Amino acid sequence: MKTPAPRETILSLFRQTPDGFVSGERISDELGVSRTAVWKHIRNLRQAGYQIEAIPSRGYQLQQSPDVLMPEAIQSGLECQLVGSRIISLDEADSTNLQACRLGDEGADDGLVVIADRQSSGKGRMGRQWESPGGVNLYASILLRPPVLPFEAPKLTFLSAVAVCRAIKNCTGLQPTVKWPNDILLNGAKVAGLLNEMSSETDQVHYVVLGIGVNLNMRAEQFPDDLRYPATSLAIASGKAVSRLAFTRSLLQELDALYQVYLEEGSAPIFTAWTELCELTGKRVQVDCNNLLIEGKMVGLGGDGALLVRTSAGKIESIYAGDVLPL
Ligand code: BTN
Repeated sequence: MKTPAPRETILSLFRQTPDGFVSGERISDELGVSRTAVWKHIRNLRQAGYQIEAIPSRGYQLQQSPDVLMPEAIQSGLECQLVGSRIISLDEADSTNLQACRLGDEGADDGLVVIADRQSSGKGRMGRQWESPGGVNLYASILLRPPVLPFEAPKLTFLSAVAVCRAIKNCTGLQPTVKWPNDILLNGAKVAGLLNEMSSETDQVHYVVLGIGVNLNMRAEQFPDDLRYPATSLAIASGKAVSRLAFTRSLLQELDALYQVYLEEGSAPIFTAWTELCELTGKRVQVDCNNLLIEGKMVGLGGDGALLVRTSAGKIESIYAGDVLPL
């Protein structure tokens, strides 16, 4: 097993003590380093935004942590059976999906989570870019190795959507809605996007990567001008900053719980939960399928995750890719 970095050991000592005090001597024993080296590690933590007081004869006390997504902080007490079994947290990634796919190709374990503080080439649907500034949002990719045939794997998009909605409700009390195939909306504006990727051969899935981008504390001026849809963040919608750490923990727990349901019962309960979150069911919609426009009433989801639309001619169209607009 990998030895934790000194700063991780120190932070975990703080977490283990009920009053938050840890003596310099204890840290020096745990790390096997001098008291001067301990002091340097504490100074580095302070520079990284941790507020640590030194109280004579009691030791160091962690008073406040910056809202960074450190693997140990996410994992501490996390109630997950699989998701988050390993967490990699990067200051910057080109795209967490690309990183997770690379690790998947190298044989990384089921349940791996890759998180980045910012992305230089965040990927959106249909080759679009996902705006990914640092310090404000969540960019995460979850690697799963489901024992299913390749045609089943895209259904996991609906699982991510339901998990994101539940985490938003848990952390803000706000009730988001979903828009087929993979948008999460608050008051009609996009707050999160999902991009699932897969590696497979004809009869076997090697892995699926659930890519999840949630606008948590992004400010209005941080959104690009040329967005195709109105966009928002949890902080804009709720008027309060959201803890990235608390949100990430809630999301991983919701994903894990839903994935256990999926493995035991299949996609039907996930589709039911998704449909309950979809405001457009039963409403008239227009779907732009690569410039072919289909209009009709949204009936729901097919068993394969296709969007079912009843046209005015009474025909039910199954749509596999496109952008949905309410009419
Ligand atoms: C969309 O277009 O709505 C999908 C956006 C998906 C963005 C997330 S951020 C984490 C993961 N890494 C990426 O490069 N994209 C996904």
